[in-house]
Parts: sequence; structure tokens; C-alpha cells
Amino acid sequence: MKRVELTKSKGLRGEVIPPPDKSISHRAIMFASMARGKSVVRNFLWAEDPLSTMQAMRMLGIPIHDGVKGEVTIDGKGLQGFTEPFDVIDCGNSGTTIRLISGLLSGNPFLSILTGDDSLKQRPMARVINPLKHMGALISARNEDRYPPLAIKGTALKSIDYSMPIASAQVKSCLILAGMYADGTTTITEPQKSRDHTERMLAAMGADLEVQGLSIAIKGGSRLHAADVTVPADFSSAAFFIAGALIVPNSQIIIRDVGMNPTRTGLLKLLGDMGADVRLENAREISGEPIADVVCSTTERLKAVKIGSEMVPSLIDEFPILCILATQAEGVTEIRGAQELRVKESDRIKAMATELAKLGVEVREYPDGIDIRGRNELTGGIVDSYGDHRIAMSFSIAALIATQKITINNASCVDISFPGFYARLKDLEV
Ligand code: S3P
Repeated sequence: MKRVELTKSKGLRGEVIPPPDKSISHRAIMFASMARGKSVVRNFLWAEDPLSTMQAMRMLGIPIHDGVKGEVTIDGKGLQGFTEPFDVIDCGNSGTTIRLISGLLSGNPFLSILTGDDSLKQRPMARVINPLKHMGALISARNEDRYPPLAIKGTALKSIDYSMPIASAQVKSCLILAGMYADGTTTITEPQKSRDHTERMLAAMGADLEVQGLSIAIKGGSRLHAADVTVPADFSSAAFFIAGALIVPNSQIIIRDVGMNPTRTGLLKLLGDMGADVRLENAREISGEPIADVVCSTTERLKAVKIGSEMVPSLIDEFPILCILATQAEGVTEIRGAQELRVKESDRIKAMATELAKLGVEVREYPDGIDIRGRNELTGGIVDSYGDHRIAMSFSIAALIATQKITINNASCVDISFPGFYARLKDLEV
């Protein structure tokens, strides 16, 4: 599917369970591979990104069986149970795969070469390579150790005390995994709290890991035991339905089983400030992660908000859809301190500024953010996804309120995190 065409909607109504969480799916497969024994992952996200992680683990000699209904069984062989891959590991579009396994492979005594698609080959890797080198890792990459492909010759690692210059769960998780292979205790400190699925899951599997505020201490040689994990629905995928229900007139939907990890739900706080009609029901927990159902309805008068760097990590993946919401809010929404958005699957600041302007929205781009004047009527037109799943889904929601048809080019990239997205959206339309 190269392009989709979407038109104005008469309302979104009904119930939906978003796809399983992408971040948690990657980690469940990877950490179960590092554990000793059989683990079952239920509700695994069967989408391109986590499948890149699954394929990588298989290439490293881990038997993984995929059964019915998203159930995956992993025969973990322990921290030292990986074997040299016969070929280059292709991480596809997945930053989480390449950054997390770089940490894992740095401590494994064989050669691995990691690559990815054209987007991944332009994503910065120095953020993991530099601290890994401090730990003694033998790692090189294209363009003076900046970009994939990466070559890693696993070796003995030493522990470090590392203050991360940017908040990033991928960097943090990479160093935690390397720390498990290092001699002594590795301490990693973040400038702000990023998503903590790694810490939660590794602790549940018996890792010797201690979290204190923004610091994590991980003891080398920690062993992991097998554990069954049920993956909650992905808050970042739910965000598209939440936004749709808020801006499409005559809407009310219930989104079930959504992950509510507080490091992920900055958008909910912001929606409170915007005056959105969103409430949570049935709060509970699965596999060490909080979940709830989200009930949301059309909100006529959303208010513009100002977002600074302190909020960015907790809504890092929700910026594209937040930009669509901002077009319908009263006033100018100002986003700053979000320069990380420029190095995601696409340059998301540029992508949103360029494509929203095509739909008649008044926007102003800054190096670290964007201003969006709200209460705009969106015209129709042709927009590009830049091959970025979250950009494609954001403009699909925009199309539901545009005066004319919107055509999205490069639309099949939604399969990275949300196969079946267009059909699920259609199911909700009245
Ligand atoms: C992720 C971390 C975030 C996020 C990405 C998934 C993860 O990236 O944007 O979609 O699973 O750890 P950064 O670590 O680059 O912030």
C-alpha cells in the first residue's frame, strides 16, 4: 500500500484495544533471550519493529517459537548463551533494536555487524558508542563512529559511572545491558526520567538493579530467570484514537487495556491542561506495568498549551499527533526543548511543519520545536509520511476533520508499530 486517501468523518464511536506496546515487546523478547529457561510472552506486538528484535535474537542462536494469538515462547540460554551470527543483523527501521543489542553484544565474545534501513542508517549512534567505548567495548561504525552499520567485537567490559547528556531510554537500556556483562557496578544517571520498562522488567527477572531517583546501578554478572510477560496495549498507539475522538465531532470511544506507565503518559497531563474530555477507568496492573481504559469524547474548545523540555521525555513519541491536536486548540501551542524529534524515524519537527503548512496551518519551525496556531480549518491535499509510522497515523487523524480529502503518500509504514491501523480506524467510524 503506497498511499491512502481519507475523508471527513461523521464521528468515531465504539471500543478499541490498541496493538501491544512496542517498547515492552522488544524488551520481553530480548531479556527472555538473556534469561535462563523458557519464557512466554503474551500479546506480543506482531509488527515490523519488534520482529526485527525477534529475528536478531534468532540469529544469535536463541530458539523462539511463535504460537497462536501473539504468544511467543523463548528458550533463553543465559547471558553467555548467545552465538556468533552467520550474517549481518538487519535491524530494519528499529532504533530500539540496534541500540539495545549494541549493549548486549559488546559483552559477547564474537563479531556482530548491525545495519538497518535508510532511515536507521541516518540515526545517531555516537550516543551509545561513546559510553560503550568507555566500558572497553570494541565497536566501530560508519562516518567516524556516528552511524550504522556498526561492527562489534565483544570483549570483557568494565563498569562505569555515566551521566547521560540526553534523556533516552534506548541509551539507558543499552548501558544497563552492557553493565550486566561488566566487571563491578555500572551507574547511569539521566538528566530526566525516560521510560523505565527496562528497569521494571529486568528487576522482575531477578537482575541486581537499583533505581534511585534519576540513577540506576546495575551489578555485572547479574543472572536473569525466565518469566512470563503479558504486554499491555501501547499508549503511543492509543494516542491516535484519543486525538481522533477529541477533534472529530460526535465522537465517544473507549480504549481498553492501555499501558499507563507514568514515564509514557505526559500527553494525558497535557490534555488535562487543554481541557480535553478524557477520563481513566478500571485502573489495574499487568506484568508490573499499570494499565487502564481510556474514555474520551469530542471536546469543542481545546486550549493551546506551552511545552518545555521538562515534559519532553514523557511524551516524546506523541509529538506528531499533539501537533494535529494543536491545530484545533484556541491560541498558539508552543513546543520547545524537543530537538530530539529531529533524530527520530524522520525529522519530525520538519515533517510536521512542512506537511501542516500544506493543509493551510500557520506554523513556525524552531531548531528545538514548533509553534502552531490553532483553530485552523484543515484543507485537503497530498501529504507525505517521510516513511515515518507516527507521521502517517497523525495525518490520518487530521484527514478526519479536513474540508477535503487528504492523500497520504508512503502510507504502509504504519506496519512498523500498528499493522491494521487504517482498518481499525474505519471500524470506529459511524
Ligand atoms: C524507545 C525510546 C524512545 C522512543 C522510541 C522507543 C524505547 O527513544 O522515542 O520510540 O523503546 O526505548 P529515545 O531513547 O531515543 O528517546
